Amino acid sequence: MHPTNSPTMYDDCVELDSVRLQVDRIDRERNDCDDNVMAIFHEEQPFTWQFVQPYVKEALKEATGGVDFLDVGCGSGIFGLLMAKHFNARVTAIDKSKRAVDFAKRNAELNGLELQVQRGVYSQSSIPGRNAKIIGLYPPYHIYPGSVEEKIPQHARGGSDGQGEFKNQLAIADYHLAENGIIFFNQMCLGDEFGPRFLRYIPQLITGDPSIVYTNVLSPISTMGFLEGVYHDKFPCFIDKISSQNPLTYYAVGIIKQDGKRTIDCVKHDIDLKGRTWKDRIKLHYEIALHGFK
Ligand SMILES: C[S@@+](CC[C@H](N)C(=O)[O-])C[C@H]1O[C@@H](n2cnc3c(N)ncnc32)[C@H](O)[C@@H]1O
Repeated sequence: MHPTNSPTMYDDCVELDSVRLQVDRIDRERNDCDDNVMAIFHEEQPFTWQFVQPYVKEALKEATGGVDFLDVGCGSGIFGLLMAKHFNARVTAIDKSKRAVDFAKRNAELNGLELQVQRGVYSQSSIPGRNAKIIGLYPPYHIYPGSVEEKIPQHARGGSDGQGEFKNQLAIADYHLAENGIIFFNQMCLGDEFGPRFLRYIPQLITGDPSIVYTNVLSPISTMGFLEGVYHDKFPCFIDKISSQNPLTYYAVGIIKQDGKRTIDCVKHDIDLKGRTWKDRIKLHYEIALHGFK
């Protein structure tokens, strides 16, 4: 099959910036031993890749360390392969899912690129401390009632409020980040009119008084509207509770530096979203939620 340049969540063979990838359709039947490898969504991986490149270029010049790029939760290997292809980066890619690791290795072969791929849960022992110039974090952030956790695909399962795995990975990445290095991330995040919750917890989890630069890929949406779109008439008590504590939901891409500035900059972007909106995000989280109803 030929890869498509305008991937949808129902494509399993795609191409991004001259990298070809095998992924899983979002509606593929899954179980924990044979989990789904994340599909491509324009506002997610392609957007992140476009936003982070200037920061990546600078960090590769400024930072010192044995690993150019630490790809945490590599899935299909998309970011590691883009970094290897376009920046000749030495990449260590990690994923806890066997299927993801198999796909990342196969996708590396398909593109004639080299990735050091590790299967395992990301931990301090994944690589030596202070050794990664750039760390990519794209932890699962689907929001779901704890009762359906076991049915949610690993690429979407990061704790009921969608924040647990991001916090966990930030604390470990703090140990791995090289001097003058950066962490880049994409994240859907609960919040309020003052911003996404990560603005509060990143400075607690990352040492060195970090600066955060982020962009709202899409303008924040009402959490109630979002969750009702995903769950329809199911789980009303769960939706009420989450929405009253977190009236807004953000979808953001950001950069963290341990530069002692302790600043937060929300920057506007002019990246083409190719017509993607929250309606598409709701549809994709609805497809994930369907796994929980099976
Ligand atoms: C949201 S997906 C992102 C995949 C890929 N980077 C992409 O953008 O298409 C998250 C990935 O992280 C993996 N993952 C989640 N928690 C992990 C952990 N603690 N250690 C290693 N991998 C993890 C999941 O198996 C999944 O493949």
